Amino acid sequence: MPAALVTGATSGIGLSFARQLAADGHDLILVARDVERLGRVAAELRTVHSHGVEVLPADLVTAEGVGAVGERLQDPNRPVDLLVNNAGFTLRRPFVATDIADEEAMLDILVLAVLRLTHAALPGMIARGHGAVVNVSSVAGWVPRGTYSAAKAWVTSFTQGLDSQLEGTGVRAMVLVPGFVRTEFHDRARIDMSALPSFMWLDADDLVRAGLRDLRRGKTVSVPGAIYRTAAWWLPRLPRRVAVGLGRRHPAGTRRRR
Ligand SMILES: NC(=O)c1ccc[n+]([C@@H]2O[C@H](COP(=O)([O-])OP(=O)(O)OC[C@H]3O[C@@H](n4cnc5c(N)ncnc54)[C@H](OP(=O)(O)O)[C@@H]3O)[C@@H](O)[C@H]2O)c1
Repeated sequence: MPAALVTGATSGIGLSFARQLAADGHDLILVARDVERLGRVAAELRTVHSHGVEVLPADLVTAEGVGAVGERLQDPNRPVDLLVNNAGFTLRRPFVATDIADEEAMLDILVLAVLRLTHAALPGMIARGHGAVVNVSSVAGWVPRGTYSAAKAWVTSFTQGLDSQLEGTGVRAMVLVPGFVRTEFHDRARIDMSALPSFMWLDADDLVRAGLRDLRRGKTVSVPGAIYRTAAWWLPRLPRRVAVGLGRRHPAGTRRRR
């Protein structure tokens, strides 16, 4: 059985990855902080699919948490064929109004954890001659707007460059670039998304199904959803000042909750 390690596997996009990869015959290693919830997801997957499911509770904002997941990825006796770097959160306030510790925590999970876990996973994959890393970025990476956008721009650029460096190794890197997806993401950040038109929302299961199809097809950048594929074409081509202007307003006129 191929094995997949999914970070942020208890909710939203990561949970969809876990369910679809399990249905596709993968053994799963589920990473998140909430131990009880990890247990519930693992029990669900074991009931529906007969193969192996491990839970690995870890806080990916901490060096210890990332270290523990990195060690699991490097275990030669239990190889991991697919790493999905998905866990993440955003912050509600603009940069100057945010506590610097929160800004650093966001960079830790969105950038440092992705960097370290990818670096831990690749040598084994390359030695075995197969494997893949999927990094979950965001369309926000193409709209300059504070640390979250900057971090996701890093994820997209990093993954594109990495996939090219991996050529000929049998190992792949793909970046999944979602638009707005109905998950717990905005609620956790207490961002009011009620003004976002329904056509702009993606369903997490549809997003992940399209992402896994793109991975099988050998794509480096996967942007599910027609409107976001269009945005992926024009956003990077906008004059810088127009893109910066877009980032100045909160997406689609949404508001921050007080
Ligand atoms: N939803 C969107 O509109 C959207 C759009 C573009 C990109 N994305 C990206 O998609 C990814 C997944 O987001 P989502 O929408 O599925 O969010 P979500 O529903 O809030 O799920 C987040 C997952 O990450 C885990 N997590 C959060 N903080 C963690 C930490 N410190 N250490 C380990 N795990 C942690 C959570 O579990 P615990 O709380 O138990 O740790 C949960 O499993 C993120 O990288 C996000 O930036 C989302």
